[in-house]
Parts: sequence; C-alpha cells; structure tokens
Amino acid sequence: MEAFTRKLWAKQDQHPGDRWRLFRAVAAAFPATRVLYPGSYVDLAPSFVFPDVTYVDVDRRAARFFTDEAGVREIIASHDGPPSPRFRFVDADYTAELALAEASFDLLISLFAGPVSEHCARYLRPGGWLLANTSHGDVSLAAIDPRYRIVAVIVAEGDEYAAVWDDVEAYLAPRSSLRYSREEILRLGRGVPYRRSAHAYLFRRELL
Ligand SMILES: C[S@@+](CC[C@H](N)C(=O)[O-])C[C@H]1O[C@@H](n2cnc3c(N)ncnc32)[C@H](O)[C@@H]1O
Repeated sequence: MEAFTRKLWAKQDQHPGDRWRLFRAVAAAFPATRVLYPGSYVDLAPSFVFPDVTYVDVDRRAARFFTDEAGVREIIASHDGPPSPRFRFVDADYTAELALAEASFDLLISLFAGPVSEHCARYLRPGGWLLANTSHGDVSLAAIDPRYRIVAVIVAEGDEYAAVWDDVEAYLAPRSSLRYSREEILRLGRGVPYRRSAHAYLFRRELL
C-alpha cells in the first residue's frame, strides 16, 4: 500500500470503525447489492459491507487514493466483509451527467457532500433506498421531493447504530414554524432543524 493511501485512510478512519458500524446497521435494514456513493472522498467503509460500490468524487486526493487499487483492496480485505467485493471510482462531478445506467443502484449514499439526493435520484432504482444525513440540507430536500418517502432512521446507541422504523415522520417535524422551499435549501446549503434528530435517514425511491 502506498504511504499516501495509508495516510488518507488513517485520517478518514479517525474514529476507528465508526462508518463500518453505520453501514452494518444500514445493511441490516436493507441488504443492498449495488451502491452509489457520490462525494465519497476516501470513505471506503461501504465496501466492508456491500458487494459492489461505485464511488464518485472530484477531489484529486480521492482519485489518487483509488488509483492505488492494491492498497484499497488491502484495506477492504482487512474488514471481514463480503467475498470478492467489487468497487470502482468515478472521477467526476455528480451534478453533471454520470456515465452510469439509470435506475441501476439499490442504495444511494449522501453524507456531508451536498444535494446528492437531488442530482443522483435517477441512478437509484424504484424501490431502492437513499441514506442521507442532514448536512447541506439533503434530508430536507429528500423530505419534500416526491421521488422519496421516508422509511426509517438510523440512531446511535452507544458506539453502535440501529434502525428505527416506528413513528419516523416525527424525525422530520421541524423545531419551529420555519419552512424552506427546495430553492432556499439549495441556496442556503442547509435544511430546517428537526425536533427529533437522527444520525441518518433512510428514504425509499418511489415508483414515479
Ligand atoms: C466533507 S467530504 C465528505 C466525504 C464523505 N462523504 C464522508 O462523509 O466522509 C465532501 C466530499 O464531497 C465531494 N463533493 C462535493 N461536491 C461534489 C460534486 N458536485 N461532485 C463530486 N464530488 C463532490 C468533495 O470533493 C469531498 O470529497
């Protein structure tokens, strides 16, 4: 493994195993096969759990990291995940047209990377799921987007994560009377604060 790869991964995994635990909880809720992760940077943790992951980012360091394929495989192999996992890196801006088949992914991941739900819904198959957090207002965008319907939230339980299925709409109840339109969320880069917060939200892609 190149020193660069090792260094970037050590920084990414500074709370050791945290993302691994998060994706394990997601896989327990929804055992996806094909996963799309726009704005992934070097967060390899989905490959510790899911068999086929496509990473997308514009950052030069991410492109260099994934060029060290042997190093990336070594990190994945040390996590006792699925046998022979497949992964690829797409060096691209996810707001532009990506060379990916529409409706071909089971799970779309949106963590701290902007309005992924908005731009990448087309790659998610109907019935597929979106995992998003509130960063950049992406949960608020998905909540008002008719292409998505909330199905569960992921909450932290100590060091572990678990899916909550009951009363999930309550996690989208705004703390105040403040409401943002889609345009405002995109312009401000943030969503409305919610009364009950979750670590992440799971939405189902509707048959539209
Ligand atoms: C704060 S990092 C989060 C990385 C990772 N999702 C995580 O949670 O650890 C945001 C990443 O999104 C990428 N990003 C932001 N906008 C993007 C775009 N339009 N297309 C591709 N990548 C983008 C950035 O290059 C950066 O690597």
